[in-house]
Amino acid sequence: EHGVVIGLLGLGTVGSGVIQIVNEHQQELKHQVGCGITIGKVLVRDKDKYRESQIDQDQLTVYAEEVLNDPDIDVVIEVMGGVQQAREYILQALNNKKHVVTANKDLMALYGAELLKVAADNGCDLFYEASVAGGIPVIRGVSEGLSADRITQMMGIVNGTTNYILTKMEQDGRDYEEVLKEAQELGFAESDPTSDVEGLDAARKMAILATLGFSMNVDLEDVIVRGITTVTTEDMEYCKQLGYTLKLIGLAKRTEGRVELTVQPMLLPNSHPLAAVQDEYNAVYVYGEAVGETMFYGPGAGSLPTATAVVSDLVTVVKNLRLGVSGRTIHSPLHIKELKTDEE
Ligand code: NAP
Ligand code: HSE
Repeated sequence: EHGVVIGLLGLGTVGSGVIQIVNEHQQELKHQVGCGITIGKVLVRDKDKYRESQIDQDQLTVYAEEVLNDPDIDVVIEVMGGVQQAREYILQALNNKKHVVTANKDLMALYGAELLKVAADNGCDLFYEASVAGGIPVIRGVSEGLSADRITQMMGIVNGTTNYILTKMEQDGRDYEEVLKEAQELGFAESDPTSDVEGLDAARKMAILATLGFSMNVDLEDVIVRGITTVTTEDMEYCKQLGYTLKLIGLAKRTEGRVELTVQPMLLPNSHPLAAVQDEYNAVYVYGEAVGETMFYGPGAGSLPTATAVVSDLVTVVKNLRLGVSGRTIHSPLHIKELKTDEE
């Protein structure tokens, strides 16, 4: 009994959380998948950096090939971020018949269709639950839980950093720059927080949700995006006095075969359920014609919450491996289209 060996690309906020959960939840994981899960090689940029992570120094490497070409590694977890390098590594992993779990929304929003096809062609799984709304299982919720319904609208707070900033500005009258710095220190922000504060991170997440929820290919360039960089503490005070809360809201609507997608700061009456979502928490409201209103809520960023989504995907990958059904999961409407075209 060798168990399953995973390789990690990245050991930052999310990667160190993944290692912590795999180590500390050994019993629970083994109980679910029926075998041990061990960590093999871990790719980092700087091997000598001080790390609190529970990992031996000799497991670290700065050479991606030591993860991607290692025959002992069954599953590659990509938690390094960035687009082109991460795409190349994931393609290489899939072509080497390794299953992949990623938390990378930038990549999935731009190249999800391509990567899912390469995964299917190689009989591999590729899951990305952590890419939208951190620890909330909203990708599964929308693509599996509500798959019977016709979803017409989704509205969400899907960026933890900006919600943290807006909450602290509103509640404590604190300055934008100061709270942004705190969100970075807490591990919520992207390595370059521009995509957080300018709304692009939320736009990418809404594009992924809309693609899954509406079964349509959504082009990021069609999303109207405005961030929170110009919001001041005076604006917040003014909204508060009027009984409103300012939130960065992603809105996706389907009307007569068309999708409308926007991300922008919106004034919500204090009684609105999304107005109560504070700090790095996220929430996604989904309206389906048959089910009516549903709401997904939880921590949208941070090490352990995000890592639970990554490791839950890992559990599915390992179950599939053991059942011999890897790569047969229907990942997306785009994948279905691909299968239909092949049959015709
Ligand atoms: P992070 O703390 O900056 O960590 C990135 C890790 O990847 C570091 O260990 C870094 O190495 C390594 N790395 C980056 N580029 C590399 C390269 N070219 N070659 C080798 N190693 C490289 O990032 P994070 O916050 O964990 O985020 C990782 C991914 O998860 C991103 O896609 C992000 O969008 C996504 N995500 C993050 C959160 C969150 O709350 N933070 C939530 C959901 C999704 P060094 O340690 O040597 O610098
Ligand atoms: N930077 C992202 C956020 C991380 O703040 O929501 C989670 O995707």
